Amino acid sequence: MTASILTETVLPGVVQITMNRPERKNALDRACYLGLIDAIAAAESDGDIRALVLTGAGGSFTSGNDIKDFAQDPGTGPRVAMDFLHAISTATKPIVAAVEGFAVGIGTTVLLHCDLAYAGKGASFRMPFAALGLCPEGASSFLLPHIAGPKRAAELLMLAEAFGPETALEAGLLNGVTAEGAALAMAHDKARALAAMPPQSIALTKMLLKRSQTAAIAETIETEARHFGERLRSAEAQAAFAAFLTKR
Ligand code: COA
Repeated sequence: MTASILTETVLPGVVQITMNRPERKNALDRACYLGLIDAIAAAESDGDIRALVLTGAGGSFTSGNDIKDFAQDPGTGPRVAMDFLHAISTATKPIVAAVEGFAVGIGTTVLLHCDLAYAGKGASFRMPFAALGLCPEGASSFLLPHIAGPKRAAELLMLAEAFGPETALEAGLLNGVTAEGAALAMAHDKARALAAMPPQSIALTKMLLKRSQTAAIAETIETEARHFGERLRSAEAQAAFAAFLTKR
């Protein structure tokens, strides 16, 4: 069986973490979250690694949480996703995201926790939580109004429509938009540059950039998770999952 999370040292000092369930547009199931948590921990504890690249296989970033898990395991399902969010939001090494294709749900909100993010011009973003009977996650209810402004955050989280990379750039979710298929090369360039910088200075810079928000991010992830867990069991959400899974 192919691993659903791949890790590879792609450049000196740079590990690439690839979400790899292309037949599901890289939807994240429990094994994926555990793989992501392990990959981040391994990179964090490896003194030779100075930067991480996060990307997806097969032309998609990720279609978000596996809806089958949401439908079948609404009780414990979200915990491992929250553990992943805590891991990525507290990582001390710089993380660069490369997005092509779909970045849905946590595929969009995870960008709030990457230091740099690039997307190809065919990328499509969406935070469909409200439309699915759920609520924001990944500290997006705190970070998105902060970076995009309250009106844009309400538009993206309440109307829950798909949006393109130019809107993602304006909203502060991206550093840049590349030609289609070129986001990974751009992410590699930036990761190479980060890996060549003095690592202690980069770690200190990252810590200082995030310091004022660290407690609020952790608290928001937990508060959102409590509501999210309740919403998963709601009739609204279960009906939305059933509609997706039966393609109604
Ligand atoms: N969970 C489980 N399965 C998923 C999935 C997800 N998040 N995203 C895609 N898949 C599955 C599809 O059901 C489909 O399975 P099938 O081949 O057995 O029919 C396969 O992956 C390919 O996806 P498909 O929907 O056919 O691709 P598309 O290009 O038409 O649309 C998306 C892509 C991402 C727009 C669409 O799949 C989608 O909306 N997915 C759900 C996203 C979502 O709501 N995530 C949860 C956020 S909280």
